[in-house]
Amino acid sequence: MKLLITGMAGFIGHAVARRLSGQGHEIVGIDNLNDYYDVSLKQARLENLADCPDVRFERMDLADRDAMAALFERESFDRVIHLAAQAGVRYSLENPNAYVDANLVGHMNVLEGCRHSKVEHLVYASSSSVYGANEKIPFSTDDNVDHPISLYAATKKANELMAHTYSHLYDLPTTGLRFFTVYGPWGRPDMALFKFTRAVFGGKPLDVYNHGDMSRDFTYIDDIVEGVVRVLDVVPKPRGTDEVTTDTRTAPYALFNIGHGSPVSLMDFIRAIEKATGREAICNFKPMQAGDVPRTWADTEALFEATGYRPEVTVEDGVQHFVDWYRAFYSV
Ligand SMILES: NC(=O)c1ccc[n+]([C@@H]2O[C@H](COP(=O)([O-])OP(=O)(O)OC[C@H]3O[C@@H](n4cnc5c(N)ncnc54)[C@H](O)[C@@H]3O)[C@@H](O)[C@H]2O)c1
Repeated sequence: MKLLITGMAGFIGHAVARRLSGQGHEIVGIDNLNDYYDVSLKQARLENLADCPDVRFERMDLADRDAMAALFERESFDRVIHLAAQAGVRYSLENPNAYVDANLVGHMNVLEGCRHSKVEHLVYASSSSVYGANEKIPFSTDDNVDHPISLYAATKKANELMAHTYSHLYDLPTTGLRFFTVYGPWGRPDMALFKFTRAVFGGKPLDVYNHGDMSRDFTYIDDIVEGVVRVLDVVPKPRGTDEVTTDTRTAPYALFNIGHGSPVSLMDFIRAIEKATGREAICNFKPMQAGDVPRTWADTEALFEATGYRPEVTVEDGVQHFVDWYRAFYSV
């Protein structure tokens, strides 16, 4: 198959490209290599794909409508894995327009490209942040998510709504994946594990929000990648109108959580980092940040039913893999 991976220089995009390489596909990756975080890490991820002859990279901005339309027309992709986005909850308070450009305009350009070139399946990244401050746990894709508490979450929810419309109007099969706090080697420097590990090795204090009273359903990168790759082959089909009664959802549209399925408290996560680094963390306790959610916990039943897969890597093992990578990459 000919595949497009957007955000290929990113944490998850790079890992998905590596995993799909060598499987008989032709892979084209795009990314605008923006400087939201250290660009040299993005470049290093691309260099790590240099030994994959079936992977080709083009620097492109999702929001460039003409370039995106030309890309889709030229390449005729069979399937698309759309992971490029402006990520991060906290930064959406500082620079909301970055989210509108990448996540709304960019997502629209991907949908249009898929529609016009008759892509057989679009798989795109949503986020656990769409659950906002929901109190019912674990979070299920059947839950109401009409109350996002950050602009980032609102754009991810909008992505799902836009995808549904294209599935309905143009029979474009789409699957949204709500990822839960992804971590692991080649991870993102703006996320807790990276920041905490850097602080611990540097002997500096870590900022621990909500005084440590938070929990996250931390999900190891390999589990996310396995979920993405399996879902790619589960192409949603339209439901026949004859079986529809009051439920009008007939579009070839699907939505899954990909999370480990077991929340870990922030303090336990920090203890795992201490164990993996062999150093003590100095915690600087702070109040809750605006836009942040107190807990996340994925209901993973629907993913299991569709793919036969359940994420399995424990936080202890996953944090150790990250710290080993960090030591080697930064020569610590
Ligand atoms: N990492 C997580 O914990 C997590 C959790 C939930 C959802 N997600 C979603 O998963 C996807 C991948 O996240 P990630 O952690 O790999 O983030 P990342 O920032 O490492 O990767 C995203 C990539 O997209 C690129 N990009 C951003 N705007 C672009 C644009 N306008 N045009 C082209 N490229 C652009 C960036 O340069 C980056 O390389 C994102 O959609 C993110 O919102 C991630």
